[in-house]
Amino acid sequence: MDTPADIEKAVAALRAGGLVILPTETVYGLAADAGDPRAVAAVYAAKGRPSFNPLIAHVADLATARRISAFDARAEQLTARFWPGPLTLVLPIAGEGAVCDLARAGLDTVAVRAPAHPIAHALLEAFGGPLVAPSANRSGRPSPTTFADAMDETGEAAAAALDGGPCAIGLESTVVALLDEPRLLRPGAVTRAEIEAVIGPLSEAEADAKRSPGRMTRHYAPSLPLRLNAEERLPGEVWLGFGRQGGTGFNLSPDGDLTEAAANLFAYLRAADRADGASGIAVAPIPDAGLGEAINDRLRRAAGFVG
Ligand code: TXA
Ligand code: MG
Repeated sequence: MDTPADIEKAVAALRAGGLVILPTETVYGLAADAGDPRAVAAVYAAKGRPSFNPLIAHVADLATARRISAFDARAEQLTARFWPGPLTLVLPIAGEGAVCDLARAGLDTVAVRAPAHPIAHALLEAFGGPLVAPSANRSGRPSPTTFADAMDETGEAAAAALDGGPCAIGLESTVVALLDEPRLLRPGAVTRAEIEAVIGPLSEAEADAKRSPGRMTRHYAPSLPLRLNAEERLPGEVWLGFGRQGGTGFNLSPDGDLTEAAANLFAYLRAADRADGASGIAVAPIPDAGLGEAINDRLRRAAGFVG
């Protein structure tokens, strides 16, 4: 675990325009000062991320979120219930300069999230302003859920790195846009039903591409092709099971527990990808209820079905 001295070193790196590998409760992030366009440009470069895909501004507290975005009653209700935690809100931008244009990909909106992880929180508080922190993978690859995976992906670009052990949740935050009708832009650890219980029905209409710029590329993908809803392993495939469906290989959760499956998903995709001589990964069906919506979303994107 990290000491206050590590946090101070990371803050110094951020102030100098450097990047920091940062643990959160969802996945590891690659953090930079959200108000420093050169640091933000270095984040896009390290990830190989297209600059039309905006970054999340991470904040230590509600006060910072209210300063950089136009909070409404729905935002107050959702944050009262789910912050700090794995919920990101897309709101109209407010306040000058704290989140630079490049971080928002030029949009007039900003995505804000207050992470619950104690190291992320300590860093944000010590830094004293918003930090962008996209998942620390290179663009298109599975998000890192361990320190070692984060270092493998983008560690080279980081001036400092904080080790928080394996991420408890293992899937990225839920993203909800509160611009007109509330919309689910990315399913995640906070489920659709949990959000609807607080602010009522989410719009069923698809957000237009401009409003949901991160949704149009193949994502979270290992190098091997994925075959979803597989009943069994075919010759040459690595098996990624769920529940009691048998087969040698990996099992996301032998007990059929979706929380456990989410926490294992990206690490097991990476491990399956490294299997000797494999030509593909066969994934057992995962129920779509609750957290299953987010797991299936990531699997479909990893398999290349992005519609
Ligand atoms: O759990 C998480 O959210 C992790 C950890 C590190 O906090 N971060 C993360 O960041 O997943 P990233 O950059 O990998 O994903 C951010 C998502 C993208 O799909 C992006 O398109 C969307 O949020 N996003 C960011 N700003 C947006 C905006 N202004 N409007 C719509 N979508 C936005
Ligand atoms: Mg990402």
